[in-house]
Amino acid sequence: MADRRWTLVAPVYDPAVALVGWHRWQDALLVDVTHGIVLDLGCGPAHLAKGLLARGVDYVGLDRNPAMVARAGRAMDAWGPGHGLVVRADVTSLPFPAASFDVVVATGVLGLLAVPARRLVLHEMVRVSRGEVRLLEPIGRLDAPARAVRSRVIALVRDRPVALDELVEAGLDAEVRGPALLVGVYSMVRAMKR
Ligand SMILES: C[S@@+](CC[C@H](N)C(=O)[O-])C[C@H]1O[C@@H](n2cnc3c(N)ncnc32)[C@H](O)[C@@H]1O
Repeated sequence: MADRRWTLVAPVYDPAVALVGWHRWQDALLVDVTHGIVLDLGCGPAHLAKGLLARGVDYVGLDRNPAMVARAGRAMDAWGPGHGLVVRADVTSLPFPAASFDVVVATGVLGLLAVPARRLVLHEMVRVSRGEVRLLEPIGRLDAPARAVRSRVIALVRDRPVALDELVEAGLDAEVRGPALLVGVYSMVRAMKR
């Protein structure tokens, strides 16, 4: 999806995704994170910041769309006691030193990328993480049929759902958690650097 479309979507994004329960799944993905610093790639309006900052976790959101970054930034101040920051950058090239974050998370962004770009992002996620990566993304599960058409329509998947092999290739030991969500398209994944 081109950047200008995210600009149009930005004002209605959060209320729209709330209708399908998206925020509930996002919150569940990080519910046990109670300290340290989290990097949220393709953060959009930064819904994840709210719970994390309230629990005293520091939060860095990263998005390349200026309208999303502006919305995320406006919300950041109100939510302490954790410290929040939003950075405008591309997920394929993260402006952070190695091992800067306790948890690196991506929700609803990896599927938008072509497979070669996604490979870069996964390697970048591993590079800047001290140990953990978490995803809420369209995942090709071993225990469920591929959802290629649904993934394209619902998750705007550009090439194909993320294969667990891609995570292994990036240097992660990954585990799918819970059932497939949103008519079988999205899954939660928790992964550790090898
Ligand atoms: C579907 S929204 C997901 C927002 C949020 N993570 C959520 O789960 O609600 C996708 C976001 O990824 C951002 N995005 C897409 N491609 C990107 C890229 N290459 N670099 C940085 N951000 C990107 C868009 O601007 C948009 O805010």
